[in-house]
Amino acid sequence: MTAGLFDPAHYRNVRRPPLEAETLPAWCYTSEEFYAREVERIFRKCWNFVGRADEVPNPGDYMSFELFGEPVVILRGKDGMVRAFANTCRHRGTRLLAGRGSCRVITCPYHGWAYALDGALIATPGMEETLNFARGHYGLVPLRMESWAGFLFVNFDPTAPALAEQLGDLPARLASYDMAEMVCVRRREYELACNWKIYLENAMEDYHTPTVHKATLGKQLTERLEGRGDWRGTHLPAARTIALLPEDAAFAFPPIPTLEGLAATGTYFLALYPSTFFATAHDCMWWLQEFPLSARRTRVVVGSCFPKSTTARADFAQKVEKYYRRWDSSLPEDNAISELQQIGLGSSLGRPGRLSFREPVVHDIANWVLDRVLD
Ligand code: FES
Ligand SMILES: [Fe+2]
Repeated sequence: MTAGLFDPAHYRNVRRPPLEAETLPAWCYTSEEFYAREVERIFRKCWNFVGRADEVPNPGDYMSFELFGEPVVILRGKDGMVRAFANTCRHRGTRLLAGRGSCRVITCPYHGWAYALDGALIATPGMEETLNFARGHYGLVPLRMESWAGFLFVNFDPTAPALAEQLGDLPARLASYDMAEMVCVRRREYELACNWKIYLENAMEDYHTPTVHKATLGKQLTERLEGRGDWRGTHLPAARTIALLPEDAAFAFPPIPTLEGLAATGTYFLALYPSTFFATAHDCMWWLQEFPLSARRTRVVVGSCFPKSTTARADFAQKVEKYYRRWDSSLPEDNAISELQQIGLGSSLGRPGRLSFREPVVHDIANWVLDRVLD
């Protein structure tokens, strides 16, 4: 199936209302051509969440990564500002920084050109005889970056609307969590053999919780939320934090005192399109970022955030282990089922399926993608 992959005729049944619709054809999860179109029309046009500002707390702190094959570095300058750059030397293109760390200047490992923390080119050994060469023209290439409540987003499209438009009313809805005052205390990465949509769909439906999370989380009955912006959400009514396994309930940190409305009475599960998932609890929040690597591979990064007042507690280090235990038991269950789904979708004999009333966001993800990639 390659000819006419983006012909809307193939997707008529996906376009129907959720309970009448079929699931996406398997090629949407396996075809490199379909994936390339998603990168071009979705990931290169949207704001992509990349991490928290508190993950680079001091001048010189950086984190580098690849976004759909693009080397990027996030760096805090001497002036305290966090910036994003293409992670490529202006001499002959070598990748500059690797992984995460801290530096005083950025020195290229190839011929030693050096850049200041604001991206300015400050040393160019051996370039004295090069004609009409002005260092001022060869600083690091900046990438658009904006932030909301400590969450950093980058965008490759210079004409894209501001981040606020993509977020819509989400910041107002989550205001009482005061996420700007949270700290990301742990991040864990998994490289999975599955398409990025598989992982996001899984995170946004509760149909699988009694089976996949039978031994850990059990049944979760969520309610759909409506709002403005490129996010979809559900709310799980809960009297206490769901970031602990039921048997560890006694280890809960105090609830965030400012919580109001739905935030005070349960948990939000949010898909922030294209590929970020947020979950909130009474005492913390966690995010899952799906960094697509190819049609069949995704790097999932899980970040756990707590209010600064909680991380300052004497018992934080001890109690937070119980929270880690919860994430480290439930996430591998989602990872394993996502990889199984990917394997099954590789069958040339597969056919589209149907959806339960408990999977409305699965239908929405499919249609949001189709709205952007079809001819
Ligand atoms: S490629 Fe960076 S200094 Fe030559
Ligand atoms: Fe799950």
